[in-house]
Amino acid sequence: MAGFYDQLPKDALVLSPMAGFSDSPYRHLCRKFGSAYSITEFVSTSDLFRGRPSAISLFRYLEAERPIVFQVFGNDPDIIVRAVERILVLNPDGIDLNMGCSVRKVAHHGSGAGLLREPRKVEKIISGLRKITALPVSAKIRMGWDHDNLNYLEIARILEDQGIAAIAMHGRTKKMGYTGSAEWDKIADLASRVKVPVFGNGDLCSAAEAKLKIRQYSLAGAFIGRQAVGNPWLFDKDNRNELSLAQRLPVMLEHFDAMRNFYGDNAATILFRKHFTKYTDDLDIPFELRNCLLTMQSADGFIEKLMETSTGIADRHEKISA
Ligand SMILES: Cc1cc2nc3c(=O)[nH]c(=O)nc-3n(C[C@H](O)[C@H](O)[C@H](O)COP(=O)(O)O)c2cc1C
Repeated sequence: MAGFYDQLPKDALVLSPMAGFSDSPYRHLCRKFGSAYSITEFVSTSDLFRGRPSAISLFRYLEAERPIVFQVFGNDPDIIVRAVERILVLNPDGIDLNMGCSVRKVAHHGSGAGLLREPRKVEKIISGLRKITALPVSAKIRMGWDHDNLNYLEIARILEDQGIAAIAMHGRTKKMGYTGSAEWDKIADLASRVKVPVFGNGDLCSAAEAKLKIRQYSLAGAFIGRQAVGNPWLFDKDNRNELSLAQRLPVMLEHFDAMRNFYGDNAATILFRKHFTKYTDDLDIPFELRNCLLTMQSADGFIEKLMETSTGIADRHEKISA
């Protein structure tokens, strides 16, 4: 049941699942930089159950991404189990149940973090999943619905009793959303009370910080989300903020090229915009140039403009420092 979790490197850093960002091209890139395994963004089990192609396509992956975990969300144990049964043919290495999403339309309908309020349902889901697959089943949770209901230990006990393979915890409550700070003392508490691998998550800014916390709290690893967007270097040793646009360019181009292969030129050109913004959010790129790049319609045109921008900025810096 432990599956690949037994073979992970010590201090495993993992690209946290993020809808709209952690797609196959970006997971693959981060995996090459050192993310220890891959997790898809969450996919609706009711959409999967209905056989919606747009939902199923979110589980496309490359062999090089393995181990690959499929993350699902839902609020109906029967639908969740039957939906997962259908996607096992896609041959993932693990199944993860999302119990952390705080977005209203998910959590307030009993899915995502909404499941934290229904421990008996959680029991039913995990035991149902364990019956249909021998793959490791994991869960990504928050600390509880709010600070009056911090029930992560109760939930973790149920998960363990049902044979969960690993637990990742974002150190916030559903009510906090993304406000305040992740409470790593609760993550440490969880890790000290369960036997399964625990991955800590929340507000990590660098590999060094993540590794420090992993060691300090005896964790199996850490998930890194927002800070890893536009920053695959984070899984390696480079500090992105010390890299110029020209130095970032080969990685950005590799990412864009992978997206073109995956989505086709038109979709990739539009989808890469949000990544471009993150890749360059700390760089001083003149407004008109940035705007021009973000409205480019053709993939080749985008690359040409990006190279031009990179050379232009390097020349400008040389002139300023001369
Ligand atoms: C845009 C976005 C999309 C997200 N989508 C998912 C998701 O599909 N599944 C999931 O478990 N968490 C999702 N999360 C939560 C992150 O995985 C992570 O738990 C959270 O951002 C805290 O980690 P961080 O402080 O390192 O970003 C998402 C977060 C963001 C910002």
